[in-house]
Amino acid sequence: MDERGAGYAAGGPGGDPQRVAQYRLGDAELVRGEGVRCWDSAGREYLDCVSGTFNLLLGHGHPEVLAAVREQSERLLFASSSFRTGPTDQVMEELVRISPANLTRVNLRSSGGSTANEGAIKIAQWHTGRRDVIVPFRGHVGQTLAAAGLNGSARMRAPFPYRFPGAVHVPGPYCFRCFYRQTPDTCGMLCVQRIEEFIDYASSGSVACVIIEPISGVGGNVVPPPGYLRELRSFCDARGIVLIFDEIQTGLGRTGEMFAADLLGVQPHMMTLSKGLTGSGLPLAAVLTEERMADWDRSLHGFTHGGHTLSAAAAVKTLEIVQRPGFLENVRASGAVLLDRLRRLQQDHPVIGDVRGPGLMLGVELVEPDGGKAVAKAHAYQRALERRGVLTRVSEHGLGNVIELRPPLVLTPAEAQLVADRFGEALAAVA
Ligand SMILES: Cc1ncc(COP(=O)(O)O)c(C=O)c1O
Repeated sequence: MDERGAGYAAGGPGGDPQRVAQYRLGDAELVRGEGVRCWDSAGREYLDCVSGTFNLLLGHGHPEVLAAVREQSERLLFASSSFRTGPTDQVMEELVRISPANLTRVNLRSSGGSTANEGAIKIAQWHTGRRDVIVPFRGHVGQTLAAAGLNGSARMRAPFPYRFPGAVHVPGPYCFRCFYRQTPDTCGMLCVQRIEEFIDYASSGSVACVIIEPISGVGGNVVPPPGYLRELRSFCDARGIVLIFDEIQTGLGRTGEMFAADLLGVQPHMMTLSKGLTGSGLPLAAVLTEERMADWDRSLHGFTHGGHTLSAAAAVKTLEIVQRPGFLENVRASGAVLLDRLRRLQQDHPVIGDVRGPGLMLGVELVEPDGGKAVAKAHAYQRALERRGVLTRVSEHGLGNVIELRPPLVLTPAEAQLVADRFGEALAAVA
């Protein structure tokens, strides 16, 4: 043991990392990745149906992205986001070009989703002169102290005493378990209309923005009913509230359209992007705003590694690839294969209550015979899938009952069949 103590000696080279990590590590040590597959140190192959942390949009080690990063690393590894660089200029221009037409400005000074969301909220507060933030139940804003206080799940807020004081949580558009015990055809969209009462009685009366994932990812792959986001946008417009779409999971082709805003036909006032933006796992985040928000004082939101030059080089290449002919068609085709096969499995397995999602953003909700949430079963199936070489996640950071599938967008229809085969095997084995 050296003077750094027992922990270091145990976890140093040849030691046990499980003893020095401040959290529980998985059993496998991943050593290599290529496309939708990765391998552990024992040589086991996995189909990575969660794209790393939902961020490897183009899979592991996309050769063109790697080449762009390598080339940039030799020219200029990093420049402060106060300066222009070729890659950051191109990323911003391209994002404005492909995003909804009303979004004309980009803040590229964050490197992660939580800080991009906080940036969007700060811009909305600055612009409106108001304070509160509305977040749907189950919404995930992030893990920084302020974002954690905004998350739409009590579990994420409970341990921290200094919660964001202006968080207003409202029921989300989760028709499978409707808060108002309605059905989509008769509900009158209460999950929008009743927000009025939350503003009147649960807020400070000074509401700056609503921040919502158009399709809630961590919250259980919750797809809103047709018309929900349009009605929410009208609701916000009528009250001068800024509508922010967190497209950190849904953006850049994940749903089979470039943005969920396109898929669902609604322009938000602001949009945040991160995760898939660099295709490859390098960190970068963007906040897109309308022109009217351009008077923002840029010193109020920026981070050391924001707009990282290497990440921007990866993003330029990623943005080019996702716009190539056939790219989004492949997402839709592979997604349709997987959705169809999973829905067929649902017919034979009553434990599957719902299969939902567009493109390659799919969720399989597991239910108890009485309709309750089958949380333990979700974990059993996830483990059975992993034993069959398919990596998935369970919603609500492992506490939910929805198995999340978000493979890299380069998944082929044949690979989608393979994932579905393994899903069927896992269902049969656990049942
Ligand atoms: C929808 C959504 N928003 C925000 C975040 C936070 O992003 P980050 O972990 O990069 O801070 C996540 C991360 O999982 C997310 O899924």
